[in-house]
Amino acid sequence: MIDLHCHVLPGVDDGAPALAEALAMCRAAAGDGCEVMVATPHQRREPWWNDDVEHLRGRAAELQAAVQEEMGDGFRVLLGGEIHADREVLSEVERLPGGTLLPLAGSRYLLLELDSWGNPDDAVHLVHETKVAGWRPILAHPELIPWLNRGLLTHLVSLGALLQVTGMSLTGDFGRRPQMEAWQMIEAGLVHFVASDAHDLQRRPPGLRRAHTVLSTRWGSELARRLTIDNPRAVIADRPLPADLRPGLGEDPV
Ligand SMILES: [Fe+2]
Repeated sequence: MIDLHCHVLPGVDDGAPALAEALAMCRAAAGDGCEVMVATPHQRREPWWNDDVEHLRGRAAELQAAVQEEMGDGFRVLLGGEIHADREVLSEVERLPGGTLLPLAGSRYLLLELDSWGNPDDAVHLVHETKVAGWRPILAHPELIPWLNRGLLTHLVSLGALLQVTGMSLTGDFGRRPQMEAWQMIEAGLVHFVASDAHDLQRRPPGLRRAHTVLSTRWGSELARRLTIDNPRAVIADRPLPADLRPGLGEDPV
């Protein structure tokens, strides 16, 4: 499996505090069946602005070197950012591929975190403008953002947004409401990825196995594979998502 959203980069946000903890998270992810983690430090979110991309690339290279030494070629750490979508973020999207934002694994995909206090007009504008600029917006954990209702999400997906649900929402670890929201989004064909959003080893651990089990038990192994393997693999290869005939999961037109 390929995990597109993890706070495993050491010492840069509220994830792994240092290299030892980051390595332990990689070990746990590998033991749980992951072959790639995309380290996605918070960007543009106080107190973790993380606008020095060369520093982040250096930290990622250190982690990957340590992973390679300990685990060999069977596990890789790539770099991206979880980009908090404030009102000025579009001016940074326009500076890409330069500037301060990190796309996922150097691809055309951007992992965007909408504000808990945002509004529908801003979300529509963000998705539209990001697409027009030639980037593929992935919205992080929409099931945890209270103002994103199903109708709005359907509209955002029709505009080209891709949705990433968090594994611990699917498994019920965050409570009944996020679980129901996530399940209903999947049933509506709106979800493209499941990722861990791991922060540590205990409270928000890495790994997608339990979420994969929920997906395959409720909706079948093909969907489980698509959301945890095939679609994330397309992201890190910077390809369009594989075609799917169901509404909301169609091939990305870009
Ligand atoms: Fe996150």
